[in-house]
Amino acid sequence: MAVRWLELSVQAQGPVQDTISSFLVEQGSTGIVCGDRSLRAFFPGTADGTALRPLVRRYLRGLRDIFPDGLVGRTRWRVIAEKNWHDAWRGYFKPQRIGRSFIVAPPWIRPKEDGRHLIFIEPAMAFGTGTHETTRCCLELIDQICAEKSPGKALDVGTGSGILAIGMARLGVREVLALDNDPVALNAARANLQLNGIDGAVTLSDASVGRLRRRFPLVVANIILETLLEMAGPLTRRVDARGSLILSGLLHDHVPAVRRRFHGFRLVRRKDRKEWSTLLLRKEP
Ligand SMILES: C[S@@+](CC[C@H](N)C(=O)[O-])C[C@H]1O[C@@H](n2cnc3c(N)ncnc32)[C@H](O)[C@@H]1O
Repeated sequence: MAVRWLELSVQAQGPVQDTISSFLVEQGSTGIVCGDRSLRAFFPGTADGTALRPLVRRYLRGLRDIFPDGLVGRTRWRVIAEKNWHDAWRGYFKPQRIGRSFIVAPPWIRPKEDGRHLIFIEPAMAFGTGTHETTRCCLELIDQICAEKSPGKALDVGTGSGILAIGMARLGVREVLALDNDPVALNAARANLQLNGIDGAVTLSDASVGRLRRRFPLVVANIILETLLEMAGPLTRRVDARGSLILSGLLHDHVPAVRRRFHGFRLVRRKDRKEWSTLLLRKEP
């Protein structure tokens, strides 16, 4: 039987996209593309989704009761023949210019050289393709810090696809330690390091930040609020005196709680993009 793919489009915007994406990955989606007002999930297989569709319908109905009007809208299902699937999936990924220094592209596109650092990311199962505001703001702040003075060493907590670690290596950071507690993310990051020809400058690890003893002049963590609050103590201890800490994955309303928990830091810059906030903090000596 010919292999087919199911594509599900859901009208959804804001953080609820992350909630829906997690659910769809659990249901077997192997690729999700988030846009401004909708997301698309791809399911491999020969089935037409007979079992999946009622599950998704029930789940989204529940979400519509929780989230305010209009955040979760209509759904559409489409069956894609295998021969058309690559084009359907690949068509969503375009090269993206981020900040002054970066261009992020999927490996099947060779963007025009324009003096920027090229980061290839295979859009796979790990977060960090460069489309999300939090990733983009982190890269912009990394760019700013490295332009002032290269930190030499850096820690990337929750590396996902490895995009921030690769960005730091591209800007000349000689030693980046990149952590993630998800083996799927670590595999994706490993593949992306290879794709970008980065060997030696970035070390991947599943160690928890609490087990580290070294300090770094630059620490970046783009993770959800609850995790950031939980790891505030260990994260704070890993930053050098006068070192920089970039925190992202926060909604605007989360910022006061984060500022209270990460005491001993001065706010140097805050970037608000859509509903997301990213903070650049500097540790007081
Ligand atoms: C939002 S993604 C960020 C990916 C990438 N750094 C970026 O900026 O696009 C967060 C990542 O943090 C990882 N993560 C969540 N909790 C963690 C923890 N306690 N320790 C290490 N990594 C964690 C997740 O597996 C995920 O890959």
